[in-house]
Amino acid sequence: MAIEKKRHIRVFDTTLRDGEQAPGCSMTRTEKVRVARQLEALGVDVIEAGFPIASTGEQEAVKAVSDAVERVSVAALARANETDIRTAWEAIKDAAAPRIHTFIATSPIHMTHKLSMTPKEVLQRIRDAITYARSFCENVEFSAEDASRSEIPFLVEVTAAAIEAGAVVVNLPDTVGYATPQGYRHMFEEIRSQLPQAQRICLSAHCHNDLGLGTANSLAAIEGGAGQIEGTIMGIGERAGNVALEEVIMALKVRGDQYQADTGLDTRLLCETAALVSEVTGVGIPPNKAIIGHNAFAHEAGIHQDGVLKNAMTYEIMTPASVGALGNRLVLGKHSGRHAIREHIRSCGETLGDDEVEMVYRAVLGLADLQKNVTQADFRNIVNAVKSGKGETVKR
Ligand code: KIV
Ligand code: ZN
Repeated sequence: MAIEKKRHIRVFDTTLRDGEQAPGCSMTRTEKVRVARQLEALGVDVIEAGFPIASTGEQEAVKAVSDAVERVSVAALARANETDIRTAWEAIKDAAAPRIHTFIATSPIHMTHKLSMTPKEVLQRIRDAITYARSFCENVEFSAEDASRSEIPFLVEVTAAAIEAGAVVVNLPDTVGYATPQGYRHMFEEIRSQLPQAQRICLSAHCHNDLGLGTANSLAAIEGGAGQIEGTIMGIGERAGNVALEEVIMALKVRGDQYQADTGLDTRLLCETAALVSEVTGVGIPPNKAIIGHNAFAHEAGIHQDGVLKNAMTYEIMTPASVGALGNRLVLGKHSGRHAIREHIRSCGETLGDDEVEMVYRAVLGLADLQKNVTQADFRNIVNAVKSGKGETVKR
């Protein structure tokens, strides 16, 4: 039987640039270096360390990241003008694998109202900016900002011009989170089918989450031929944020049967990485957040607890260990079943008879009717009361 080889999808992490643009998420130089080292351990392909033209502190932070990591490419963002590009290069030139990332908007609304430029002028600016960036380094990425609201014939011209001028990655962002999976995939397919030269470079997807479609859109782009995905840890970023990288990475890993693609990252470091980003930015991880949330492997319903105790795969599609979570948790509450109660008693090192287990079970349910959670301490008290024969007096 022939074994199909999975496509390698590169991961471009922009937690330190687009993620940092979220309100209240700015990071100091030391914090950026800590996160960058963790991203390097995780195995991302590119770390976008910042937007050096923004401030002197930002230039220093990008430089510090460039000096701190070795096994990963470091990118710096620059608008499509010489000052931005030169400043970006100064900040990353000592990195092991520097990448200049330059961008300009290509949608009618941005060209008319924001840039006041004609499509022809934008095309010329793209050629000039990439040619200038290439005078510093070979690794140049170009982004057509607001690509998902750009006209496809113009995007084809833009991509052709970018490739001709020397870009090795062309990114087609869904800057305002407007795309749908079908539309975004179609855009990649069109570019690839109309431009044979697009096979020579890497097309990249960059999704925002305004409609909550970031993960679906990134996966659709991969199906359409994108070879790189851009996003942030925990999905932090402007407005509703960027696509959460951990979601796309695990979707490819868990559903490799469908996508035939993988990132090759050490996914066991995902929870640890999210915890660090959360600590540094002060943004809490929602308990129900996919992959990294505290409840991602928690079960309260008795039917689920029973299933998980028999075989975790009944209600878990990946192991907690595969994302670096501590383990699954059987939460005690009013939906808990006898099987989970027995398991809890066992894990407390106790052995109780059937009648006693029944008393503990009833007491847990009674308490759960009165308060949101039954804590470990509550449970211990119940077990002790039952053991000492005071089970009937346990609070109900
Ligand atoms: O969302 C976007 O378009 C961007 C670009 C600068 C790549 O962040
Ligand atoms: Zn963005």
